[in-house]
Amino acid sequence: PIPIFTTVASYREWRRKAAEERKTVGFVPTMGALHDGHLSLVNHSLANNDLTVVSIFVNPTQFAPHEDLSTYPRTLPRDLELLSALSYMSEARVNGTSTAASARGSSGYRTPSAVFLPSVQEMYPSGVSQQVAAQRGTFIEVKGYDEQMEGKSRPTFFRGVATVVTKLFNAVEPTNAYFGQKDIQQGLLLRRLARDLLLSHPDSEHLHIMPTARDPVDELALSSRNVNLSPAERHFAPTLYAALKAARDSWEGGKSKDDSVKTAVQLIHERSQEVSGKVDVALDYVDMNDVETFDVVDGEATSTVGKPIILSGAIWVGRTRLIDNIILGDD
Ligand code: PAJ
Repeated sequence: PIPIFTTVASYREWRRKAAEERKTVGFVPTMGALHDGHLSLVNHSLANNDLTVVSIFVNPTQFAPHEDLSTYPRTLPRDLELLSALSYMSEARVNGTSTAASARGSSGYRTPSAVFLPSVQEMYPSGVSQQVAAQRGTFIEVKGYDEQMEGKSRPTFFRGVATVVTKLFNAVEPTNAYFGQKDIQQGLLLRRLARDLLLSHPDSEHLHIMPTARDPVDELALSSRNVNLSPAERHFAPTLYAALKAARDSWEGGKSKDDSVKTAVQLIHERSQEVSGKVDVALDYVDMNDVETFDVVDGEATSTVGKPIILSGAIWVGRTRLIDNIILGDD
């Protein structure tokens, strides 16, 4: 079984040994309820690091008081089984040849090396509150990057994420850390945080953003929250990505930003009419933002401007909020 560390102190002993042995440590922070999107990040870490640490921590401070902290799916036994079943066979073992990795004694099968499973008390020694006004202790804000897109709809979300991920980085001390494009603003904001706070474990260049894993049949972005969808809602859910793709096609066809976004909004509207009475759909936003500044793209702008753009959206399907995005002009 994979060693599980529930305290920072016990983890640090293990981490010290890894450092003495000059092992690289890959890190995948999660809130559990693991799915193939999480596992693709873990597999990537296994392939590129001597050791891989996965954290499972449902972080209270990134949920606003009205949000779904209490109903967030928790499936720890299954999560641990899924992680135990992963293994990566390094090239040295496949080819029977010696490489730098095997010289360090790390050839052969790699499986996740440790699970960091802290309590709320362990992560928040000064106590915890979901209400910003009631919080005491140390919090991290990434000003200017936490107000657009997801931050606009969830004003205290990134404060909670930035704070907990800084703490996790300080505890885990990873060489590399892996995040998913599904939460693109989160990944880019954390990379900025790593740069601004002069972090070294990981430094901003070792904070990797990996492609979104999707349902192989209907391309719905995998998410822990998908288990809360009813069959009818689950059937509707891929509409968000379909709408983003329609906007992308419009943009790449030379239409303006406003027209392209309208195309997406219309498609969501039409499909939601088809299921009215059966599925409650509410559009949160569809927008296009500069990948570096997060500035909203000017509505008159067309695709002839060649800077990468985040085309992202969020919709409510019943009581579940879904997000997705496509990066435009990133090839
Ligand atoms: P969670 O939603 O559990 O996601 C953990 C990591 O998995 C994130 O980096 C997320 O972007 C990635 N991920 C989720 N769905 C994915 C998909 N379909 N394809 C690829 N990657 C995917 O994001 C969080 O947790 C939290 O905010 C956290 C960073 C752990 C801080 O609490």
